Amino acid sequence: MKYGFDLKQLMLLAKRSRLLNILRWSNKSPVLASLIIVLTNRCNYKCHMCPLGRDIDQRTKDEILDMDIGIAKKLIDEISEFRIFKPRAHFSGGGEPLLYREFVELASYCREKKVNWSMTTNGYTLNKFYKQIVDDNCRNLNISIHGYSDVHDNVVRVKGSFDKVVSNLNLLDEYKRAKNTILPRIALNCVINKRNVEYLYDILNTFKDLPLHSITFQHLIFTPNDLEDTEEGIPENKEVEVVRRFIEHAENNQFGMPILFFPSIKTKDLFHYYNDFDYPFKRTCTVPWLALRVQPEGGLTTCNGLELGNIRTEKLKRIWNGHKNNEFRKKLRKSGISRNCNRCCHRNYY
Ligand SMILES: C[S@@+](CC[C@H](N)C(=O)[O-])C[C@H]1O[C@@H](n2cnc3c(N)ncnc32)[C@H](O)[C@@H]1O
Ligand code: SF4
Ligand code: SF4
Repeated sequence: MKYGFDLKQLMLLAKRSRLLNILRWSNKSPVLASLIIVLTNRCNYKCHMCPLGRDIDQRTKDEILDMDIGIAKKLIDEISEFRIFKPRAHFSGGGEPLLYREFVELASYCREKKVNWSMTTNGYTLNKFYKQIVDDNCRNLNISIHGYSDVHDNVVRVKGSFDKVVSNLNLLDEYKRAKNTILPRIALNCVINKRNVEYLYDILNTFKDLPLHSITFQHLIFTPNDLEDTEEGIPENKEVEVVRRFIEHAENNQFGMPILFFPSIKTKDLFHYYNDFDYPFKRTCTVPWLALRVQPEGGLTTCNGLELGNIRTEKLKRIWNGHKNNEFRKKLRKSGISRNCNRCCHRNYY
């Protein structure tokens, strides 16, 4: 296979087919499907459910990190050297990729090097970049919208942001039509949280009229300590019951496009997901066999921030199947995921 995948799509696919489980038979992996590149930790939102958004006002200047364009291009060069299976470059992570100052240069570089790329963005500044995104062959664009009008604006704490993002989405759609292309496919990502849970039905009704290919409702990723002391809070049982009914509603009706829930959890287990940390969910995960993350300063990390090497001094291919990563996978095969994985969206919940 020539091209990498969007990790979320791949995990949903894996859940259905279970084929990817074969990868876990070995400590090494022949398939780096997705390289998640954190270009910057700047952000123009302050989302309540995101650790970065919650702490953004306390941040000092020294804590703002942007990837050097030389490093970003080196990553693209190294991806282009993969022969049988080329990873997908996915721009996302703890920050807003469209605030990366060299974004235009980097997108063009991906096209030049024939590297497939995709992105998760809040879409607020998409009006400046939508032509570039289409022209430079972005394959999948995940747009994060967490409600309609004030519901969304309250989650991200930027007034007027819902209207602006919808207007940007329409600009992008018109440009795609003018160019007669379906790429990038647009997937909306809506994180279910305390501030939007009571509006889910209306949210879905609003979303289904937007120019999208799919809608994903994302369950909250969290650790108990993460949220306990914040005003965000973990959804309570009565809210979880609303989510459970909403999932059944979405699964039993047609909306003209796929409506997905991520991670996949059986509806009967939702209460355990949100409020029962001792529940014996399955403890397997395939992501360390499929993906790596690169931090703005060039560190390549796998799960829970474990640093495997740095792209400034080492080759991506060597780090991918290097001693540290192989040992990490070996431990995972033997003992299952650790408690630190908490409510990660990538582990298997059944
Ligand atoms: C961290 S953001 C980075 C990209 C960009 N800033 C954005 O918001 O799209 C990546 C995705 O994670 C989602 N997200 C943030 N906090 C989350 C949480 N606690 N649980 C689940 N998803 C979360 C965002 O809504 C977004 O869809
Ligand atoms: S826009 Fe993305 S990175 Fe910024 S605060 Fe929201 S979820 Fe976090
Ligand atoms: S569940 Fe654990 S091992 Fe799997 S991706 Fe998440 S942090 Fe990594």
